[in-house]
Amino acid sequence: MANVFEVLERDHEEVKGLVTEMEAGPPLTAASEHDLLLARKHQVDRLITEESKHEAVEEEYFWPTVRELVPNGNELANHAVKQEQQAKFVLDDLIGYEPGEARYEEMLTGAMTMLREHIAYEEEQVWPELRLVISPERAMELGTKIERAKKMAPTRPHPRTPPNPGLLKATSPFVATADRIRDLVTGRGRR
Ligand SMILES: [Fe+2]
Ligand SMILES: [Fe+2]
Repeated sequence: MANVFEVLERDHEEVKGLVTEMEAGPPLTAASEHDLLLARKHQVDRLITEESKHEAVEEEYFWPTVRELVPNGNELANHAVKQEQQAKFVLDDLIGYEPGEARYEEMLTGAMTMLREHIAYEEEQVWPELRLVISPERAMELGTKIERAKKMAPTRPHPRTPPNPGLLKATSPFVATADRIRDLVTGRGRR
């Protein structure tokens, strides 16, 4: 059992860890250039999967709570959701490119900067405001909901799906299943 801040912080640490890992480049233990590119692709796949699940559950449960409880919650949520949408478009485009292409590394660098800024915005601008107004019980309840929802969240960015909570709730089991089937077929996320 963990409260909402602990649950989201765990995700943020994971994403930041992946970004740092990717900035360092693929592991040099790879035997050939093909292995290096493959390792790069796996790193990016992991980032996309983690990031897609994380933002989907924030849209579903976190931002509605911020809007409800924080006095300037709408403003904070609107800005953050806009950042999330921008990152999703870039990550979605990345799926269509292959590592090694100049455009790929360029887009990836852009995505990593966006994600760092977005995480900093949530942790530094939004969390302190929410901490002031959320009860410990509500924070625990929200953490539990988010942890549970992550297990069935989509593993792809879906930037063209409007980031509205009700909509995601209605479609996510199907979308998430379809994503996992596509991941299996394409070998995405496989080590
Ligand atoms: Fe977010
Ligand atoms: Fe987040």
